[in-house]
Amino acid sequence: VRSDSNFFAAMPASSANSRSSPQSSSKDAEDIIVTLVGSVIQLGVIVVGSYYLSAWISKQIQQREMAPPSNDPARRRLEQILRRRGEKIPQLTAYETNIAEDVVDPIALDSSFEDIGGLDDIKQELWQLAVLPLRRPDLFAENKLVQPPRGILLYGRPGTGKTMLAKALAKEAEAIFIEVKLSKIMDKWFGESNKLIAATFGLAQKLAPSIIFIDELDTFLNPRDGFENSASATIKSEFLVLWDGMTTQDGVLVLGATNRPHNVDKAILRRLPRTFEVPVPNEASRRQILNLLLKDQNMDASAKKFEADLVKRTVGYSGSDLKELCRAAASAPIHEMVADASRKAVSGKLSSKSMLHSIKRSSIRPLCKADFMKALDKVKRTGQAAHSYGQGVEREAESEKISQEKIVEEAMMRRAMSLFRTMASLEQGNSTNEDDVPNLNVER
Ligand SMILES: Nc1ncnc2c1ncn2[C@@H]1O[C@H](COP(=O)(O)OP(=O)(O)OP(=O)(O)O)[C@@H](O)[C@H]1O
Ligand SMILES: [Mg+2]
Repeated sequence: VRSDSNFFAAMPASSANSRSSPQSSSKDAEDIIVTLVGSVIQLGVIVVGSYYLSAWISKQIQQREMAPPSNDPARRRLEQILRRRGEKIPQLTAYETNIAEDVVDPIALDSSFEDIGGLDDIKQELWQLAVLPLRRPDLFAENKLVQPPRGILLYGRPGTGKTMLAKALAKEAEAIFIEVKLSKIMDKWFGESNKLIAATFGLAQKLAPSIIFIDELDTFLNPRDGFENSASATIKSEFLVLWDGMTTQDGVLVLGATNRPHNVDKAILRRLPRTFEVPVPNEASRRQILNLLLKDQNMDASAKKFEADLVKRTVGYSGSDLKELCRAAASAPIHEMVADASRKAVSGKLSSKSMLHSIKRSSIRPLCKADFMKALDKVKRTGQAAHSYGQGVEREAESEKISQEKIVEEAMMRRAMSLFRTMASLEQGNSTNEDDVPNLNVER
């Protein structure tokens, strides 16, 4: 810039001098040429410099997207999984390696179909629809009509075992389980998120058979307020385009789970042709779930006898509620045994170390009926405890004099009314399940 201004500054001076003497005019011409050459050289340096700079920047970007170092922990874990399958690790981009951090080895998944109580029909249908095509794709390769679905949706009330079922499905299918973590994808610069979405599909295809699992599908790319900002809209369209681009022969299944199916984005819902409602367990399923949960517990005769009663007393409990109930009952003997010692330890009368040493595993008593009775009091079906707490507070505000008998009477009345309604709906042929809670919505 300086030389250019020198050059223009020199112009009038040189033309003024040209009128004064021939020697000075040739000197001015020389000056102009020198300035011109200088400017051209500067320009050249700038052009060449910016060329090399842009080449260096694009090389850096390319390197970032290329395979990361082979000692990357995610790559090493993937190598281990694939070695068992007798396969070598494919060429991965840095984005795919990023997604590979969340890949789960089917062997490491802790639930299989036999750990799930009840849901026999769903398990059987899922086995035919998803497990078989992922394990024996050759059976479906020829016939276009029997192609497996590219997407399956599991929906139902909270705690009914949807996530557990999805993991069990991957385990049975020996498919690599890739859980889409929206927080990870959205927490990126504009453009990076799209690359992570593309990497999810790319990795799933490279690692097929695989399952892309999207838990809480209702929150996936579907802002609750209905406002779609441009970033999430482009990510969503990228996701849909990549999903559409996949063929069923790719050995990739997209599996979604939600307890608010009506809130799932319509475009996503359309791509999940098979949907399964995972219901609240009925009596037979509750029996199976309780048997599974209690199979390794040390129980006395009273507790064993009470199991059948427990099944009847847990109408409306989800699988997760039943687990909580059993957990509460099973921890009672331990809590009871350490109650005295822990009180002393907390008050400083006994050192924590000697308190811990005083606990003997062998002296833990077996579970008894009373433990389950107490657990039934503590663990209500999901949402019920919070609901009755709200009612209790209201009542207290109205009058503190309501007697305990009256509350019991009210509860009995409510039960009778609910039983009456159930019987009425059964008579009308509206209900199919002998102990389904009436008017259950999926969402609570
Ligand atoms: N059918 C079942 N058999 C055995 N255990 C079950 C069953 N259903 C639920 N559970 C227990 O409840 C826990 C929670 O279940 P899970 O997370 O799969 O429920 P979910 O339907 O995905 O719930 P949410 O809708 O809240 O995500 C499981 O880890 C399992 O221990
Ligand atoms: Mg879940």
